[in-house]
Parts: sequence; structure tokens; C-alpha cells
Amino acid sequence: MRSAKMALLATGLLAAPAMAQHATAFDIEDGGRAFANSCANCHGPDGDLIAGIDLGRGLFRRELSDAQIADIIVNGIPDTPMPPTPRMSEQQALHIVAYLRSTTASQHVVAANGDPGRGRAIFEGKGTCTDCHRINGLGSRLGPDLSSIGLLRRAAELEQSLLDPAAEVQPANRFYSVTTANNETITGRLLNHDTFTVQLFDTDERLRSFLKADLLDHGFAESTMPSFGDELGTQEIADVVSYLVSLRGISIQDRTTP
Ligand code: HEC
Ligand code: HEC
Repeated sequence: MRSAKMALLATGLLAAPAMAQHATAFDIEDGGRAFANSCANCHGPDGDLIAGIDLGRGLFRRELSDAQIADIIVNGIPDTPMPPTPRMSEQQALHIVAYLRSTTASQHVVAANGDPGRGRAIFEGKGTCTDCHRINGLGSRLGPDLSSIGLLRRAAELEQSLLDPAAEVQPANRFYSVTTANNETITGRLLNHDTFTVQLFDTDERLRSFLKADLLDHGFAESTMPSFGDELGTQEIADVVSYLVSLRGISIQDRTTP
């Protein structure tokens, strides 16, 4: 699985035009960060949320060279909601372009091969996802609410959550464990903690609050999100990812008409 992904990534980089070839891995990473900070709120984490534009796949409403995209990033498109970003250097704009070009071939491969309807059936059935996750009010609160996960994460990140959940846990999803004075250990999703107190959702979905001074021990714990690499086949993973990508909290129509 991992080597297949690397191969796709390599193909993407090779197929990319001259400029992206000169971009270093660092440039691309920098571009990815800038994209997440300045662009994803409108274009979506995969860059495909605005009708007719799919930045992640290099699909534009018209033919655009790297230099023209960088120019659009810095100057915006007058008389449209596409804003200028004057504080951004041309250099950084080119890093974003390099990032977008580098993802062109590797992105969507997973989700594009999946069927959201089948993914939903797996999510609610054999995947047992609703034991821990909630979507639009249905399911459990043990794990994070996934109602708008398609707005927050890229398809590749969602796939990683299923295959290798420990790789990257969002700060808001961290697990915390406390041991009380009578030696009871309670683990749950951390809601909040400060110098004196800690609040978490225990495994019965109850909100629990503790005074740190009363505890024998407390600290971050391992996530309970299982890996589904063995349980689900490649096609089933693709189906679930395409279902997750479709979860955008609000109707997609609301976002595509600028
Ligand atoms: C406030 C929302 C918003 C933000 C932030 C934003 N865009 Fe846009 N962008 C749009 C809209 C809306 C359009 C379509 C404009 C039009 O009607 O032609 C667009 C158009 C574009 C186009 C032209 C695509 C084409 O097919 O002609 C590119 C390229 C682009 N955006 C890249 C970016 C990048 C890169 C960033 C981050 C630096 C970014 N945008 C930030 C809303 C936004
Ligand atoms: C035993 C409980 C449990 C089950 C079952 C479970 N998850 Fe999770 N999941 C978690 C927890 C806890 C987290 C947060 C910590 C982490 O990211 O590892 C999480 C995180 C995630 C994330 C990342 C969320 C983010 O904000 O990035 C996704 C996506 C996800 N799960 C999808 C699924 C899907 C799809 C299934 C079913 C195939 C599933 N989970 C089954 C507990 C579970």
C-alpha cells in the first residue's frame, strides 16, 4: 500500500512541468502549509469545492500557466470573490503552485475509485464506525464528530486515518488518561485541560471533570481508533474514503455558488 502511494507520488512529480521539478520537497511542504492557511477555507482541503475548479487535479476554467496561477494568487481575480493576497511573495505563491502540481497525479485516486453509497453502508455496518463516531447527530461521541470531515481533511489524510491512525492525531482528538485517588483509571477524549483541572468524555460518553491535585496520575494516552488495513479490502477503504470526502456538513451547493 505504502509503496504504491510512493510510486503515485513519484509519477506525479515526474509528470509535473519544469517549474515543479525544480521545487524542493521543502518548497512543496511550505506551499502545502500556505494552501491550508490561505486557500482551503474557500477551495476546500482538496481544492475542488468551487464549481468548475479543481486545484488539486489541475482543472481550471481556462488554461493557466504556473506564472499565471502565481499572479492570480497574489493579485486575485478582479470583480470576483477570488481575493488578492498582497502580503504573499511571488516566491511563496510559486511554492503553492508547486504543491498543487505535486498533488495533481496522486490526489483523488483513492476517493475517485470509491462509491460513497457503499462507503456509507460499510460505515454504518461492518466497519462499526458509528460505535465511536457521529454524523449529523447519529452515532457515538467517543471519537470525533465526522459530520464535516470532508471540509477539513484531504482524501489522502482520510485514507491514512483508516490505515495508520496513530500516524497523525489532530490535537483536538487526543486521548487522555487519569488515575483517581481510589486507583480507578479513566480514559477518554480530552475536551479541555488547564493547570488545575482536566475534562474528558469517558467510554460511556459521560463528561467527566477532575481536579489534577486529586489524581494519582494523568497524561496523554493512545488513541482507540483501530487500523482497518486488515479488516477492510482496498475497494472498501476507497468506498469509505469517498463517503467521508462527501461529508461536508452543509450542502455542497451552498459553497459552489460564490
Ligand atoms: C474568499 C474565497 C477564496 C480564497 C481565500 C481563495 N480563492 Fe481562489 N477563487 C475563489 C473563487 C470564488 C474563484 C472563482 C473566481 C471566478 O469567478 O472566476 C477562485 C479562482 C481561483 C483560481 C482560478 C481558477 C480558474 O479556473 O480560472 C485559482 C488558480 C485560484 N482561485 C487559486 C487560489 C489559491 C492558490 C488560493 C490561496 C492562495 C485561493 N485561490 C484563495 C475563491 C477564493
Ligand atoms: C473504537 C472506536 C473507533 C472506531 C470503531 C472507529 N474510530 Fe475513527 N477515531 C476514533 C478516535 C478516538 C479518533 C481520534 C483519535 C485519532 O485520530 O486517532 C478517530 C479518528 C478518526 C478520523 C480522523 C478524524 C480527524 O479529525 O482527522 C477518521 C477520518 C476516522 N476516525 C474514521 C473512522 C472510520 C471511517 C471508522 C470505521 C471504518 C472508524 N473511524 C472507526 C475512534 C474510533
